[in-house]
Amino acid sequence: MRIDIITIFPEMCRAPLSESIMQRAQDKGILELHLHDLRAFTTDKHRKVDDEPYGGGQGMVMKPEPFFAAVDAIRVATMPSEVLLMTPQGRRFDQALAEELAAEPDKQLILLCGHYEGVDHRVVEALVDRELSIGDYVLTNGTLAAAVVTDAIVRLLPGVLGDDRSAWQESFSDGLLEAPHYTRPPRFRDLEVPEVLLSGHHGRIEAWREAEGRRRTLANRPDLLERGDA
Ligand code: ADE
Repeated sequence: MRIDIITIFPEMCRAPLSESIMQRAQDKGILELHLHDLRAFTTDKHRKVDDEPYGGGQGMVMKPEPFFAAVDAIRVATMPSEVLLMTPQGRRFDQALAEELAAEPDKQLILLCGHYEGVDHRVVEALVDRELSIGDYVLTNGTLAAAVVTDAIVRLLPGVLGDDRSAWQESFSDGLLEAPHYTRPPRFRDLEVPEVLLSGHHGRIEAWREAEGRRRTLANRPDLLERGDA
């Protein structure tokens, strides 16, 4: 998969995407990642990317021209591509959408990062395929959101994680949160690992994990149960 991130702060997502599994995905050739500075696609001497809003109001609006120029320059003609805008106004990004996007590893994803009060709406109308939000809170800009979306998609690409990944009950993939995990030692500061996990009885362990996952979901994310897919 090829992912291009267009932002005025490329350094903000370079580190999170060049560590550990994200770096290994690139070393293995599974991910081709390109970070672009939006200012490189301006044409004026001040490299201006924002301007005052028409109709008045607080803050600045990101100009359309640099985004259009950047996507024109970056889009690979021979690949299918999708342009995603990171914005709190977008559809909520979730595991189902990560899986949908990861299911097309031959695609080019172009992630645009908003800043200030927003981007000129002509970008949304004529350039963007989907607007994505990573949650109901407002970040200073969309660059961290682009790093989050990239990480969530790339870890699902074939060959990125070990083959035993599917053996793990992942949170959200079945509509429930995961059961708690434990490792050695069996007793630490009077804190004990639940007996059932030491029993070696796979049937009982599975039943315990299912019940604990459900209990945790009820406590922390009752909305997942109300959605009815668990
Ligand atoms: N930019 C600012 N806040 C954001 C959010 N929650 N999701 C995506 N992009 C953003």
